[in-house]
This record gives sequence, structure tokens and C-alpha cells, in this order.
Amino acid sequence: MISIALYNLKGGVGKTATCVNLSYLAAQDGYKVLLWDLDPQGSTSFYYDVSPKVKAGTSRLFSEQLDPASLIMQTGYENIDIIPADLTARNLELILEEMKSSRRRFKTILHQLEKQYDFVFMDCPPGFSVLSENIFHAADIVLMPTIPTTLSVRTYEAVKQYFAEKSLDSSKLMCCFTMVDIRKNMHNEIIEELSRDRKFFANYIPYLSDVEKMGLHQAPLAVYAPGSYAARCFSDLWEEMKEGIIA
Ligand SMILES: Nc1ncnc2c1ncn2[C@@H]1O[C@H](COP(=O)(O)OP(=O)(O)OP(=O)(O)O)[C@@H](O)[C@H]1O
Ligand SMILES: [Mg+2]
Repeated sequence: MISIALYNLKGGVGKTATCVNLSYLAAQDGYKVLLWDLDPQGSTSFYYDVSPKVKAGTSRLFSEQLDPASLIMQTGYENIDIIPADLTARNLELILEEMKSSRRRFKTILHQLEKQYDFVFMDCPPGFSVLSENIFHAADIVLMPTIPTTLSVRTYEAVKQYFAEKSLDSSKLMCCFTMVDIRKNMHNEIIEELSRDRKFFANYIPYLSDVEKMGLHQAPLAVYAPGSYAARCFSDLWEEMKEGIIA
């Protein structure tokens, strides 16, 4: 099983859009996929149109060591299940802070899912926190969607520095450009600058209104716009990613 956390220190950069679409493509490939919505905003759960069935499930998963299987729900799509977000995900910070062995708990939960799934995609809230630190330790891959702007360069450097300071394995940090507008010189220049680092995939997601329409359709792109350019961009990114992570 490979666990992939969609993360960025910055909000609104396309973490959820990337999570929803890559997970769907993985399932289309025949892999057994679990989505774990760790963001109390619950956007991934909204796009997959799933509401939690267990009250306060997210916090109880940690504080009461609930079996993750009891929170797993079907999405209506073949090969994809989901642990939907609930509002108690906003208390995770406090719960993790109080738990001395919180890091181990994350790993244990992922370990419990190992037999059932090939991929776990985790949609994370933005920011540096106890939660993000736990995720950085537990996930196999931290995928960071990045809009090529000046502020994103600073954010990218801050995340890299954080990995170095905390002695985290920087090889698990992978990045992809999102909301790219190649008509903008700045976007082109920043893509060129950051690509030197070899942490960025060559395929990127342009700024496209078809991606925005995910909210209207509450579905992955490949479902409501299968032949679109946007769907192809996500598919190209997924193919490139797969080559890099599946030996
Ligand atoms: N490639 C794109 N082209 C156009 N709009 C996009 C694209 N990717 C995402 N969006 C839109 O931008 C907004 C933010 O995207 P998304 O929710 O995926 O970001 P996020 O990083 O998950 O945000 P948050 O930090 O709030 O969780 C959404 O309205 C989404 O529809
Ligand atoms: Mg999001």
C-alpha cells in the first residue's frame, strides 16, 4: 500500500482537486483506493457526495482508538472508499498534541488499512501543525500542489526547510504545478526556476474552468468531462506519478 498526502502550507492551491481526481484515476486503473478526508472543511467528502455515518468519528479514531474500518464508507464508484471528514477533524490538533504517541497512532491506522487497499489518498488541511508533522512522518509521499507564483516559492522553501529541520525524509516530498496560466511570464519563470529542484512533475494542471465545475457536478473530472483537456492533464500527471512511485 502507498499512502499519499495532499498537502501544502498554503490554502486554496488545488490540494482537494488533485486528491479527488488522482484517487479516481488510481481506482480506474483497478487499484483499491481509500480516501481519507482529514480536512474539517470536508471538501473531498463533498465532491464524492458522502457524509459521515459515525458521530465524531475523526476524533474518536484517535482518542478512542476506533477501528478505521468502522468509519469507511462506499463512494458509489468502483474501487474507491472514503473516510469522510466530520467537524471533529478540527479538534485533531488538540487531540494529537495531548497524545504522546500520536505519530505511532497514524502509522498504526495506515497499517490497519494495508491489507485492503493499494493506495490511501489523504486530503490535508493547510498549515504547519502537529497534524501535518504526523502526516509527514506517516505518509509515504507528501504531494504538494503548487501555484507558480512568488508567494508559492517562499512556501515551497519553507516546507523544504521544515523537512530539513525536523530531519524528515525529503525524498517523500513531491510537487506538481496547479492553476498554471502559461500566458503569464511569471508562471513560466517560476516553473523554470522550481523545476531545477527535480521535485516537480513535468506534467502540470492548467487553470481551467472545467476543474472549477467539480463543485457543480460533485464528481471527479473523468466522470462529468471525460474527454476534456482538464481530464487529460490529470491523467497525464497520474501516469507520470505512477511511473515514479510504482517500482
Ligand atoms: N486547475 C484549476 N483550474 C481552475 N480552478 C481550480 C483548479 N484547481 C482548483 N481550482 C479551484 O480553486 C479552488 C481551490 O481549489 P481546492 O479546493 O482544490 O484547493 P485546496 O488547496 O484544497 O484548498 P483548501 O486549502 O481550502 O483545502 C476551488 O474552487 C477549485 O474549484
Ligand atoms: Mg482542500
